[in-house]
Amino acid sequence: MVFFLPLPPMEFRKLYIETYGCQMNVVDSEIVVAILQQNNYQLTEDMDEADLVLVNTCSIRDNAEQRVRSRLNEFKSLKKRNREVSVGIIGCMAERLKEKLLEEEQLVDLVVGPDAYRELPSLLQEVEGGQKGINTILSLEETYGDIRPVRMDRNHVTSFVSIMRGCNNFCAYCVVPGTRGRERSRDPETIIRETTELYQKGYREVTLLGQNVNSYRWEQNGELNFENLLERVAKIDPDLRVRFATSHPKDMSDSLLKTMATHPNICRSIHLPVQSGSTSVLKRMKRKYTREHYMNRIESIKKQLPGASISTDIIAGFCGETEEEHEETLSLMEWAGYDFSYMFKYSERPDTFAALRYSNDVSEETKTRRLNEIIELQMKLSLESKQRDVGHTYEVLVEGTSKKSKDELFGRTSQNKVVVFPKGELKPGDYVNVRVDNCTSATLIGRPVGA
Ligand code: SAH
Ligand code: SF4
Ligand code: F3S
Repeated sequence: MVFFLPLPPMEFRKLYIETYGCQMNVVDSEIVVAILQQNNYQLTEDMDEADLVLVNTCSIRDNAEQRVRSRLNEFKSLKKRNREVSVGIIGCMAERLKEKLLEEEQLVDLVVGPDAYRELPSLLQEVEGGQKGINTILSLEETYGDIRPVRMDRNHVTSFVSIMRGCNNFCAYCVVPGTRGRERSRDPETIIRETTELYQKGYREVTLLGQNVNSYRWEQNGELNFENLLERVAKIDPDLRVRFATSHPKDMSDSLLKTMATHPNICRSIHLPVQSGSTSVLKRMKRKYTREHYMNRIESIKKQLPGASISTDIIAGFCGETEEEHEETLSLMEWAGYDFSYMFKYSERPDTFAALRYSNDVSEETKTRRLNEIIELQMKLSLESKQRDVGHTYEVLVEGTSKKSKDELFGRTSQNKVVVFPKGELKPGDYVNVRVDNCTSATLIGRPVGA
């Protein structure tokens, strides 16, 4: 006689995921969680109970990679405590280093590049069978457009929506075209669907993401460019704020600014990375614009969107940068009056045009000094930018409780400036008019109007 034993209930496996790098990686982790949830994995915030630990990595500067390397070192004790746990490296470092990662980091079981996440379930089966799993094939089409990312944000008010992947610009210093592959745009219908669903769930702000959003283009059923897409997203509901990043100065058009001007819910904040204020450095960087072109774009923003905030990215000490060229960056910053900047020391990245063709000849000491001058100037500009807001009232989208006091909330203005104010009866997701009474270089301090 044969007895059939009932199958044991299917047990979920537990996934713990850490994300480094840019906002694109934040969304990619949410896509990875969605793929794995459909394959019997459940998210955990406790690394010690995980069956699978994934690290979504960044290669943009050497220190980004070093952070991941030291994190992997810390995982050694985790593997000692729990021999069953598998460790996977995904994202840009996986793509850049490929099987070298498996050779160099003994504890790594799995290496998966940004375009191969759909293969994760089958790669995990290989890992379960005792093999190492690797797939770093880049794609010309993959956008994960049909996948609904599992949101991991804390506030349930603001979210990112990826609208394109990859980059074709090949700036001389940059690894992204190598780690993310060729540029491709996502089907607008899936973007609209995802954003509408976020709005229906109570989200009140989306940031449309791409390495160069201005070159978004969709050519099925007629042609749709970035302005058209932005307009469609803005029309989902006037109560939904829309932001976008990143714009490339060579492609930022007046027609985009006009579209922004006609929709008050498209936020008055533009991130326009300049990298350097010197035309000769920009040429070496292969940025494809001059100082004058960039200044013309800023003038146009100021004319068409008065009161908009402008932020930027700056690299200090690129190959061959002279003292005069550095001074040009400082003078451009002063002229533009940036509200905010991300500032970096140039970091040579293997296999980029700059690494292959130029000498990384600005000394570490000089890079540090120049970066410090840039940071100091930005601190002054940021404070001036905040001081201009004192005495004015802004509509603020409430995002959460202030870090410093549970009786205070924080939110952002359309210009992307953080405001802290007394809680009252307000909650995340509300809009409130806040009068700014005071400020630091990083934060506006105010009170709801009428309170
Ligand atoms: N696509 C965006 C930027 C993505 S990377 C754009 O083109 O603006 C984010 C920022 O990292 C860049 O704007 C640049 O300022 C900085 N960055 C990129 N490569 C770098 C490198 N090798 N060293 C230092 N900073 C770098
Ligand atoms: Fe890198 Fe330039 Fe592409 Fe930005 S536009 S991701 S800096 S290559
Ligand atoms: Fe880093 Fe890759 Fe983003 S290199 S900045 S995670 S695209």
